[in-house]
Order: sequence, then C-alpha cells, then structure tokens
Amino acid sequence: MKKLKERILKDGKSFDGGILKVDSFINHQIDPVLIKSVAMEFVRRFGNLPFTKIITIEASGIAPATMLGYLLEIPVVFVKKAAPKTMENMLVSSVYSYTKDRTYAICVSADFVTPADTFLFIDDFLANGNAALGVEDLVTQGGAKLLGMGFIIEKSFQKGGALLREMQHIQIESLVRVKKLSNDGIEFEED
Ligand code: G4P
Ligand code: NA
Ligand code: NA
Repeated sequence: MKKLKERILKDGKSFDGGILKVDSFINHQIDPVLIKSVAMEFVRRFGNLPFTKIITIEASGIAPATMLGYLLEIPVVFVKKAAPKTMENMLVSSVYSYTKDRTYAICVSADFVTPADTFLFIDDFLANGNAALGVEDLVTQGGAKLLGMGFIIEKSFQKGGALLREMQHIQIESLVRVKKLSNDGIEFEED
C-alpha cells in the first residue's frame, strides 16, 4: 500500500533491534484519514469473505478494527489483556510477548464469540504472531470460525508471517511488509 509506505518513510522512526515507532499516526496519536484508507484497503482485500464480526486486541488494534467495522457495518469485538472481575462466561488464553519476555492472559466473553460467528482478526503489527495465535485460540474455544487476519505492518524478518501462513484455511494480509529496520532507515519488501 503506497500511501502507507510513504507515511512510514516520512513519519516513522526506525531503530537498531528491529523496532519501528509509528507513534505519531498509529500507536499514540492516530491519523483517522490514514486509518480510513487502511480500512478501505482491508475491504478491498477481504471484501469477498462472509464475516459476521471483526475481532482485535487492545489497545492499538481497536482504531483500525473499528474503522473497518464501520465500513462493513458489522460489530467489532476487542480482546482484553486483563480479566475484569465483572466479566462472566469468559474465554481465556495466554500470549507470550517476545518483546517483553513474559506471558500474559487474554480474554473475551463467550457472549460475543459464538458458533454463529465468522471472524476477521485485525491488528497494527505482525511480529512474532503470538497475539494472533492467542486470538485464534479464543475464537476456536468459542466455537466460531476465523477466516482472515489483516495487519497494517508486518515485520517480515520476524517469524510471525511464516507461522500464520501455515494455517492455510485463514487468509493472511499485510498492507506493508518491512524487511529491515535499523538506525540507518527502513527497507520494505518489494510487494
Ligand atoms: P507478537 O504478538 O507479534 O508476537 O508481538 P510481540 O510480542 O513481539 O510484540 C508485543 C507488542 O509490541 C504488540 O503490541 C505488538 O503490536 C508490538 N510491536 C511489535 N513490534 C513492534 C514494532 O516494531 N513497533 C511497534 N510500534 N510495535 C511493535 P502490544 O504490546 O500488544 O500493545 P498495543 O500497542 O496493541 O497496546
Ligand atoms: Na498491537
Ligand atoms: Na503495539
């Protein structure tokens, strides 16, 4: 997605260790016009599949997921990273965070993930893919189906892309794929 690559080159900050900061338009301050273009590109790539709901994980996935849910006119469920005391009928899984080197619980109410649902998972980054696998587990526990996964930015030098693409019944789309990040700059894959 050309517009997104250009914005990353203009306003993204790349660091040794393979980290890309996009705080000024995705992760802290949000550019809703760019996120609208992102959501429209997801519609173009996934529009033929019969989703009943979008699913994402707090916090940074919520903005793009909501924009897409608005365009498709379907509900958006966001998975929580801490179990609220008041939540009943809960599905729980765990995610290992490579960047933080710890495992955390994720949960969602089974009221919103049911055997009648077919989901599209949306998130900002695909790195190691562990968050996506955790959400896939929650969807499966709820008896629902996961048909697609869409990411704004894939870091193709990490293992998540290859891992998720092994699940051949799920369509995986990344709007840009970054192959190298260092203090010297950002390199994209050619697609
Ligand atoms: P994984 O889910 O792909 O395995 O990711 P990992 O544990 O490596 O990353 C943990 C968090 O860091 C995730 O956000 C992920 O989106 C984010 N992340 C990974 N690489 C980058 C990067 O290069 N730049 C930025 N900005 N974020 C990255 P999170 O902690 O779950 O937080 P939230 O922002 O969604 O609240
Ligand atoms: Na995220
Ligand atoms: Na993040």
